[in-house]
Amino acid sequence: MKRTTIATLRSQKGQAKFSCVTGYDATFAHWISESDVDVILVGDSLGMVIQGKGSTVGVSLDEMAYHTRCVAQTNRNCLVISDLPFMQAASVDRALDGAQALMQAGAEMVKIEGDERLVPIVDALNAAGVPVCVHLGLTPQFVHRFGGYKVQGRDQATRDATLKAAQALTAAGADIVLLECVPSDLAREVTEAVSVPVIGIGAGADTDGQILVLHDMLGFNPHRLARFVKVYTGSPLDALNAYARDVRDGSFPAAEHQFLD
Ligand code: KIV
Repeated sequence: MKRTTIATLRSQKGQAKFSCVTGYDATFAHWISESDVDVILVGDSLGMVIQGKGSTVGVSLDEMAYHTRCVAQTNRNCLVISDLPFMQAASVDRALDGAQALMQAGAEMVKIEGDERLVPIVDALNAAGVPVCVHLGLTPQFVHRFGGYKVQGRDQATRDATLKAAQALTAAGADIVLLECVPSDLAREVTEAVSVPVIGIGAGADTDGQILVLHDMLGFNPHRLARFVKVYTGSPLDALNAYARDVRDGSFPAAEHQFLD
């Protein structure tokens, strides 16, 4: 069976689309690992879907490390990325300490949310040998700065800043860019402009990979679903395989899951 690494995803860029879901525990990590999905993100969305909080802001580093350990316990085949929680990338020292905790818990890459100002953090993580995914666009840790979960990159200044950030952060050594809730044409532009894999969520069909929150895609989320979510039913394995197939053959995301302007 496959063992997905960053090298696998790099070699697939422009050739084959890959799929990612969030995972927070050993049982689901087992099913994701057994499926055709390539990447598990231990996302700080666990603050909402596991802990019932209103945002990801309250999630701690210890909690992220705990869930990363649970996932790593049963994962065999997927690349595991884990989120540095709110404020943990606010300084180089905090980012290095946080990355150490998550990598030693079983992560193979850490994800940080922000913008071009993350360049020194990416640089330091890179120098320390920590693979990094940078999360741009709608970054949920900064929901209170945005004033809600709103599509980003609809005006020219934010579009330019997003593209510039992706280029600067990959030049500093970021291994993956994740774009959340941006217009599809901006995501296409970023995907073409950088040499590393780009993962999208609510970012259209032209990114190299797609990600969904597990509880959303399995239909377990009791709240109103975002436009970009598609629900897959059946056994966890059947649902995950159907999602991976749709991403691979380009049928997900369809036009109704995208922000076209
Ligand atoms: O925490 C998370 O689940 C995420 C995804 C929404 C990309 O960051």
